[in-house]
Amino acid sequence: MSDASKPLKVGIAGLGTVGAGVVKILQGHAGLLTRRAGRAIEITAVSARDRSRDRGVDLTQYHWCDNPVETASLDDVDLVVELIGGSDGPALTLARETLSKGKSFVTANKALIAVHGKELATLAEKNGATLRFEAAVAGGIPIIKALVEGLAANEVTGLHGILNGTCNYILTRMEREGLSFAEVLADAQRLGYAEADPTFDIDGIDTAHKTAILAAIAFGVAPDMANLPVEGIRTIAPVDIDYAKELGYRIKLLGVARKDSAGVETRVYPAMVPLTAPLAGVMNAVNAVVVHGDYVGETVYEGAGAGEGPTASAVVADIIDIARGNLCPAFGVKVADLQTLPAIPADKHYGTFYVRLSVEDKPGVMAEITAALAKEQVSIKSILQRGKADDGGVYIILTTHRTVEASITAVLERFNALKSVLEAPAMLRIEEV
Ligand SMILES: NC(=O)c1ccc[n+]([C@@H]2O[C@H](COP(=O)([O-])OP(=O)(O)OC[C@H]3O[C@@H](n4cnc5c(N)ncnc54)[C@H](OP(=O)(O)O)[C@@H]3O)[C@@H](O)[C@H]2O)c1
Repeated sequence: MSDASKPLKVGIAGLGTVGAGVVKILQGHAGLLTRRAGRAIEITAVSARDRSRDRGVDLTQYHWCDNPVETASLDDVDLVVELIGGSDGPALTLARETLSKGKSFVTANKALIAVHGKELATLAEKNGATLRFEAAVAGGIPIIKALVEGLAANEVTGLHGILNGTCNYILTRMEREGLSFAEVLADAQRLGYAEADPTFDIDGIDTAHKTAILAAIAFGVAPDMANLPVEGIRTIAPVDIDYAKELGYRIKLLGVARKDSAGVETRVYPAMVPLTAPLAGVMNAVNAVVVHGDYVGETVYEGAGAGEGPTASAVVADIIDIARGNLCPAFGVKVADLQTLPAIPADKHYGTFYVRLSVEDKPGVMAEITAALAKEQVSIKSILQRGKADDGGVYIILTTHRTVEASITAVLERFNALKSVLEAPAMLRIEEV
């Protein structure tokens, strides 16, 4: 542990988008940060792969480490900032080394915390170190601080987040320009809004990491990626975006966490949210989180979820917190007090659903559809029939009353078995947030 009367000495491992941004803030706001923290915050060491690369910041006065793990062992490093990425590899080794030595560790790495968060929090506690990861979820939005401190009086019953800017950007452009998922993805990659390998983003894995972290803090449990079913946005069709609008909804990729007497449900899926809901108005690459607390009610947090400035802002906030001596446990409670609650499986999810069927345009089809729903005891809230431009069939668009997901799965199987149903039905959950 560092002496609070002396400068806090920081080693930064990873000098890419976020790392260079952190250096810029620590250099540019040195006086302001010293006043806020009550002591100077000094960079003493840095590390990345390529020493010769120009990173737009002056690094000449800092000790350079070719191996990032070295930063943990330096005498003049009290706190290590890890901005390399990846759930394992150098990031994990560095985290273990740093915390084992009783030094504090700050990261923006959601994969690392979602997968190894409990182990690292345990190491931190055992060695009197502090672990912080505000930038790992929703970039510049201080959602972790809000959950750990601002909402600490509440039992949190649920939260919904738009946590991946790339997905929200793609869905926004699909809606506004009437383009297919593939068309927008290709353009987003050309413009630098999506990675060359976009799998982590569009298949929901990045959102899942963030959801696991938020659920852990909100409910006082360990991050649990094993019980977090994930669906991404590859299958979203423009026609569903249009029908969502007609029904008064907009499609968003959500991280969802709920807690009730049965346990905890954590999911990632594209869902329809009412056009009047705060999350429906969150467009482009913006992130937002809605938290439901028993005393506070609903609170909404919105802002930039990524990028150099917003992400570095969150990293530096963590460094200031540590400089001030805020020793709050990483997940809001000590590791020994993290609860083990039952995971509610996906098929036990209760909610309302949207289903779109492509069917032959002939008498008796509607009767077959309603019979399948009746057999599974799913009741219809609304039903629409719309002509199709291409093959002469029609679309049947229905929404259900509240029901259990297992019944919807069974209904979809029945629909699939009908000769009059021309293609696999589309299904989306409706979240009345
Ligand atoms: N970018 C964002 O908007 C954002 C938002 C929220 C969270 N994050 C998280 O922040 C972290 C950093 O992201 P980033 O966008 O800044 O990544 P980045 O631009 O790719 O930078 C990664 C840095 O790590 C260094 N590095 C990679 N592998 C290394 C290794 N084996 N040994 C030593 N150094 C290594 C790279 O060195 P070289 O520069 O020499 O190649 C580079 O400086 C990730 O965990 C990411 O998930 C990023």
